[in-house]
Amino acid sequence: MERSGPDGPPPAAPLEGDAATLAIPLYAKARDFRSPRPILGDAKADEIVRSVSLRFEGMRTSGVPLLVVRAAQIDAWVRAFLAEHADAVVLHLGCGLDARILRVAPPPTVTWIDVDLPEVIALRRRFYTERAGYRMLAASLTEATWIDGVRPGSAVLAIADGVFEYLEPEAVRDLLARIMARYPRGEAIFDVMNSFALGQANERVQGAVGATLRWAVDDLASVDALLPGGRRTGVVRLVFARFLPWRYRLPFAIAVFAPRLRDAIRVLRYDFAGTPVDGAAAATA
Ligand SMILES: C[S@@+](CC[C@H](N)C(=O)[O-])C[C@H]1O[C@@H](n2cnc3c(N)ncnc32)[C@H](O)[C@@H]1O
Repeated sequence: MERSGPDGPPPAAPLEGDAATLAIPLYAKARDFRSPRPILGDAKADEIVRSVSLRFEGMRTSGVPLLVVRAAQIDAWVRAFLAEHADAVVLHLGCGLDARILRVAPPPTVTWIDVDLPEVIALRRRFYTERAGYRMLAASLTEATWIDGVRPGSAVLAIADGVFEYLEPEAVRDLLARIMARYPRGEAIFDVMNSFALGQANERVQGAVGATLRWAVDDLASVDALLPGGRRTGVVRLVFARFLPWRYRLPFAIAVFAPRLRDAIRVLRYDFAGTPVDGAAAATA
């Protein structure tokens, strides 16, 4: 299998399975950075892609920068949240090699924790340095106990950018319940893919790196039902997102009539008012 980025490969990093999929958004951001009119302008993604080769062949997406738009939308919501909660705890779940901590540049009063699988955090440490208020945590999101080591606070923001698709819906429910049970209030920002998009993504990643996307969302009511303590406050369909350049938005206008394209990837925002949900007690018991 070829291991190369868009512009050719330095030494390989041995990531397999779900962990290896971090290359997909990373290369999309590097490509965006090198484009004449970047959406995200993520110099760190470009730096990382130039210094390490990750398995990418076979996972190539179309040229439409949907994953970059997804990151930009999530960044915008994160900034809005932090503008209101300067002392929040941010849990960036399944961070991969993403540079959100640098793009958002939270104030030092924020505690920001990037969480991912041990092999990913080991690689991540080559490119990022911990500081007061910023740390990296190696854990599986499906483990119940990692959250116990995270400082409590007045508000929490859980972010998952291209991650929850890899978990079972019950695992997402238990994870968010555990997080929200620990803080008086909070928000969760994450994306979901419909069955059509999930099927297409699985065709690419299963053969290429042995990863599996498990959670398809066709009806947002099914997500609401998983998060009984949460109120959905935002939905952005990537094909209509304000960060998507007009040259893509005009052709995507037909998606109004094509639900499987229209709802392929949606970014969701939930507010948790603070009453621990039923599932939280079960999840922390
Ligand atoms: C498609 S990548 C997205 C990475 C990053 N959020 C970004 O946007 O660049 C999916 C990420 O989810 C992580 N992931 C998947 N399952 C996980 C689990 N059970 N625990 C922790 N991380 C997980 C993978 O290691 C990978 O970094």
